[in-house]
Amino acid sequence: PSFHALIPAAGSGSRMGSELPKQYIDLLGRPVIRHTLDALLAVGALSRVWVVLAPDDAHWTNYQWPSDPRITVLRCGGATRAESVANALQDVAKQTDPAAWMLVHDAARACVSPQLVARMIEELSDDPVGGLLAVPVADTLKRAGDDGRVAQTIPRAGLWQAQTPQMFRLGMLREALAAHPDVTDEAGAIEACGLSPRLIASDATNFKVTFPDDLAMAARLLLSSAA
Ligand code: CTP
Ligand code: MG
Repeated sequence: PSFHALIPAAGSGSRMGSELPKQYIDLLGRPVIRHTLDALLAVGALSRVWVVLAPDDAHWTNYQWPSDPRITVLRCGGATRAESVANALQDVAKQTDPAAWMLVHDAARACVSPQLVARMIEELSDDPVGGLLAVPVADTLKRAGDDGRVAQTIPRAGLWQAQTPQMFRLGMLREALAAHPDVTDEAGAIEACGLSPRLIASDATNFKVTFPDDLAMAARLLLSSAA
């Protein structure tokens, strides 16, 4: 089967607090999503890369993009990340084998390494379900009560933080998201169908650029990985 990447990039970046959606914010002279796109294009196994924009995105055309024939832009983003991905999969499914593997990867995870994605593809391509990159939780977790005091301590043993890419077969993922639209990641939809995605150990460098301070961290990581 073939391997495709799908990059949801239809968010507004509200936690970043800038006018410009965070996927377009400058990071070392290029928009955040350009780093993400370049990392995925460096993965030889990926035969298509779908970019999902908001229907009214006025920024994409202001930049130059690699002239790689694998890139296709879809302007079908929705109100939530899950909706953006679900809409895009409907379009992709019109021209793609349902057995194709889709690697859904946040535009905002700009420091993802091509080697990590290639390893994930190798480890999951024979898997009956698919899986996701994730890191073991390092801190003890506290659940807060309404009074702002600790209501419960959650032991971190066995807990992982989900990242992307999340890799599932197109047909299975499309149906799972259509049936369970309220999930916050692809794995959540697959789990809601009674299946267990595999966890592939990743590292903290594949973090999601979310808050303003994250940009300096992303720049440092990109510079050190280029060195
Ligand atoms: N995303 C999307 N469609 C949406 C919301 C988010 O395609 N309706 C994308 C974002 O562009 C981002 C990825 O999903 O690349 C991860 O989402 P997140 O980090 O939450 O980005 P935003 O939703 O844009 O940021 P915020 O939650 O701070 O508003
Ligand atoms: Mg969001």
